[in-house]
Amino acid sequence: MSEKIVVKNLVKVFGGHPQKALSMLKAGEPKDEILKETGLTVGINDVSFTINQGEIFVVMGLSGSGKSTILRCLNRLIEPSSGSITINGTDITKLKDKDLRVFRQERTAMVFQQFALLPHRTVLQNTAYGLEVKGVEKKQREDKAVAVLEMVGLKGYEDKYPDQLSGGMKQRVGLARALSNDSDILLMDEAFSALDPLIREEMQDELLSLQQKMNKTIVFITHDLNEALKLGDRIAFLRDGALVQVGTPEDITNNPANDYIVKFVRGVDRSKILTTGDVMKKPQPFITTRDGPGVALRIMKEHGISSVFVVDREKHLKGVITVDLAVESRNAGIQSLQDVELPQGPVVREDVPIQETLGIIAESKLPMGVVDDNHKLIGIIVRGSILAALSSDKGGDGDA
Ligand SMILES: Nc1ncnc2c1ncn2[C@@H]1O[C@H](COP(=O)(O)OP(=O)(O)O)[C@@H](O)[C@H]1O
Ligand SMILES: [Mg+2]
Repeated sequence: MSEKIVVKNLVKVFGGHPQKALSMLKAGEPKDEILKETGLTVGINDVSFTINQGEIFVVMGLSGSGKSTILRCLNRLIEPSSGSITINGTDITKLKDKDLRVFRQERTAMVFQQFALLPHRTVLQNTAYGLEVKGVEKKQREDKAVAVLEMVGLKGYEDKYPDQLSGGMKQRVGLARALSNDSDILLMDEAFSALDPLIREEMQDELLSLQQKMNKTIVFITHDLNEALKLGDRIAFLRDGALVQVGTPEDITNNPANDYIVKFVRGVDRSKILTTGDVMKKPQPFITTRDGPGVALRIMKEHGISSVFVVDREKHLKGVITVDLAVESRNAGIQSLQDVELPQGPVVREDVPIQETLGIIAESKLPMGVVDDNHKLIGIIVRGSILAALSSDKGGDGDA
């Protein structure tokens, strides 16, 4: 993984003559004390983090916590008071006018909450606007706009005007406009926050599927934890301009850094975050295809279970044998399970959110197996451990 954006000790104090405020900050004075003393607002308080190439990095926090300020420092729409921001190896806080303009135009693109479309321009012209400003000739910029509009699902809408579009479609135009300049960094400030819940989820899915193809570095701002958990490869939590925790959705929910984050994550639906890998148990017992129905029956009796997984010598999952089938096979004189047509229970990979398995588990008479890419059995899912993980306040280790 290569580092794309490295932010070190970033500070932003709003207002002229920040020296006094900065030294108070250094001395550890709180934000409201500094405001009282100097009249200046601390937007960002000594924040450091690294964003990797290809990552969706979510900045999460309540209103006024400094999210937009951080994002706007990344392309210097807001001038940092101190600290460094290294992007592709260059400290952009040191760029002068022309280089800064080129950096902003070529390397970054922004998507806003209020779509910021130009009302008297068509969808196509809005999409091509950034390229127009850059001086790209008409044919070339319109070809590009047509292509990105198709990417975001707006083929056929090129000649419409913004007020002919729904909110979701407007934001697709916003996204298309941002994608049109082929920048490798996408800055999204509450881009989906103004949309209705269903449309919003649709846009989140769209962004995830686009990202699969685009592999951009995306900084996504939200105040919505569920959105953060869904989109973020990692999430940075801000409070009063300071970073509280940076981690994967799993880190954040399973090991919240402090009570502030605990309060945030308490309401989260754990079944969307925990995966089958988190709740699976060791695949024991199991038997192999060389065993016969008698062995199967003995193992089931020993463990008090009514079915058991069958694997081959390399642990590839071959199916499940039930008590009934074992008895029937034994009575038919079968010696080895190789000669039995085994029923196939539900099978999942270990990175599937539990939520997606609940319905399957409820409907299946056979236990669920967890397999790797080679279809080897690496775990089993039993109802009890799922329930335990979902109800536990912290754990999710599935020992129940
Ligand atoms: N231009 C500005 N002048 C003065 N204070 C500002 C300015 N922009 C933001 N702030 C203050 O900085 C803090 C962080 O704001 P912002 O980054 O917009 O928060 P968020 O995006 O998380 O809602 C807030 O206290 C806000 O009032
Ligand atoms: Mg904001």
